[in-house]
Amino acid sequence: MRLVVIVWFLLIQLANVNNMGNNILFFTLLCAISILLYHIVLYFTTRVPMIITPRGYIKDLVKDLQNSKLVNSKSIIYELGSAWGNFSFSVQKLQPSKIVGYELSPVHFIYSYLKAKFKRSAVQFKMQDFFKADISDADIIYVYLMPKIVAKLWQKIKTECKPGTIMILLGHDIKGGQLIKKLKTDSQKINSTFYYFYRV
Ligand SMILES: C[S@@+](CC[C@H](N)C(=O)[O-])C[C@H]1O[C@@H](n2cnc3c(N)ncnc32)[C@H](O)[C@@H]1O
Repeated sequence: MRLVVIVWFLLIQLANVNNMGNNILFFTLLCAISILLYHIVLYFTTRVPMIITPRGYIKDLVKDLQNSKLVNSKSIIYELGSAWGNFSFSVQKLQPSKIVGYELSPVHFIYSYLKAKFKRSAVQFKMQDFFKADISDADIIYVYLMPKIVAKLWQKIKTECKPGTIMILLGHDIKGGQLIKKLKTDSQKINSTFYYFYRV
């Protein structure tokens, strides 16, 4: 928070010194710094950097969920930390019964919420801490988070969700989970990262 105040103070001084009322460079800089500060504040709130799953990875994952028949018309799917909602919107094509994305970032939440309304999509977005959410009815949970956060979340999932619930995790494995499948995020790459599927 102190860093935010210092940077804002410096920017105001810069504006005063150079009388930059309509200087494009100044506003570009202001936007860039605002975005940076937003992400810094968000990181200190969630302890997760805002990194988005590449669209190609999501496309392949949804294809795999379709081929493996892990999703059907009764499935309930959660994306915990949904950001722009890319996974949630993509998995909608498999026509599960419910998809919910939880996100704490106001900008990302508003974007995905409005996109869902605009597209008349059935995906629900909630601006809420997923640790405080009721996810007990989940069949599939998609997460792309940090190992420490995932370890805590896995405890919640194991306690609250029914046997058979699957957590799909991008990027790293976890200790103490029943790994049922590993899927390359990029089948062409030898050193590809993986999706890890764990079952409760
Ligand atoms: C690494 S990003 C992944 C975003 C998206 N799922 C994807 O794969 O593209 C993690 C997201 O989780 C959100 N997040 C982290 N902790 C959260 C919490 N406790 N409740 C809700 N959202 C959270 C962050 O704001 C961020 O948008």
